[in-house]
Amino acid sequence: MTAGDRLTIRARQLLTMEGPARLPPADGAPAREAGVVGLREDAVVVCRGGLVEAVLPADHPDAPAPDREVEQLMPTWVECHTHALFGGARHVDFALRNAGRPYVEILEAGGGILSTVAHTRAESAEVLEETLRERLMAFHARGVDVVEVKTGYGLSVEEELRHLRLIDAVARRVPVRVIRTCLAAHAVPPEFRERRGEWVEAIVGELLPRAVREGLVDQVDVFCDRGAYTVAEGRRVLEAGRALGLGLRVHAEELAWTGAARMAAELGAASADHLEHITGEDVAALAAADTAAVLLPLVTTFLDLPERAPARALVEAGVRVAVSTDYNPGSACSLDLSLAASLACSLHRLTPGEALRGVTRVPAEVLGVASAFGVIRPGARASFLSFSLPDWTAVPWLQGELAFRPEAGMRREGQAAG
Ligand code: NIG
Ligand code: FE
Repeated sequence: MTAGDRLTIRARQLLTMEGPARLPPADGAPAREAGVVGLREDAVVVCRGGLVEAVLPADHPDAPAPDREVEQLMPTWVECHTHALFGGARHVDFALRNAGRPYVEILEAGGGILSTVAHTRAESAEVLEETLRERLMAFHARGVDVVEVKTGYGLSVEEELRHLRLIDAVARRVPVRVIRTCLAAHAVPPEFRERRGEWVEAIVGELLPRAVREGLVDQVDVFCDRGAYTVAEGRRVLEAGRALGLGLRVHAEELAWTGAARMAAELGAASADHLEHITGEDVAALAAADTAAVLLPLVTTFLDLPERAPARALVEAGVRVAVSTDYNPGSACSLDLSLAASLACSLHRLTPGEALRGVTRVPAEVLGVASAFGVIRPGARASFLSFSLPDWTAVPWLQGELAFRPEAGMRREGQAAG
């Protein structure tokens, strides 16, 4: 840091992530890709007090002499979909599935998510806090500054509240901004199997109001799919969350088409996630509502799903597309967002620019933190990643563990918040 608490970083390629919210159609031209990431060549970022003060061409008369010079500079990354608070392991499911038993059958037979519910309920606060802290630090070490964490392995009012309090306690101890999401409508709790409507009413009438009163929750999510909740049940929970001022998220159309994505659009949800089974009409509905799509390509590989979310159609329709790990024990057990970004290119055919926007600006918008994270503009956090690559489009070419790849030369840059 220099005198006056000012830091100036000069980058040969500065990826600001600024520019139009809706992307123009992909035409393969470098100019379009440059626009996707808000590329500025040979620019400086001036920081003060932990915030970006100015972005200027390096030869601008007001540009201070740089303290650091790097090849590429971009915002730190944002992880918008995890189930990082859980106890136990799911290696047994993994082996069963690989021997031919489908995910949804294991779930419907009372295993899957429900086995993690049993383990998590039985786990001490100390162990759950410590494992969550370690997982968030693993994201941080990989260049991630914001992580969303969902509940959904408690499935009783008191246990869901216990998990929200644990997430909140850990959030205060880590250098990561944590967004707290209540996913009480994840699996149907075993105690409510024959009277699931009562559980939905408990979420709506008791859990969400108490969580909001205690200041423990930012968003509400529902798993609307075959073997989980119906669209009508999901709508009931989301409408209650909306009335309480929470952001809305939906696990939609992963295992089968149910109409959940259309409902997410109708309710103005921040995102619809998974989307393996969506139709052209659903794509149009998400675009019209400006509901973002979250691609989870690690699930595609972990569950070997035959269907793909139609990522190109989503981008071409003007839907904002984010990419996430979905870190959880059952359907995607990796903390590596850079692997998800790379797979979003190879499995979903995103361009490098679309994938990088999908781990910075779009997830920051989904989580409601885009004024501080995911973009480099005056007023945003001075928290960046630098690389020493031949070109910025090489970032997703490195297939995972980017932070630990010598050829990437990845480093954290910037200033701690003032
Ligand atoms: O996003 N789909 C529902 N929930 C998680 C999986 C959770 C689990 O299997 O434990 C998901 O894939
Ligand atoms: Fe998920």
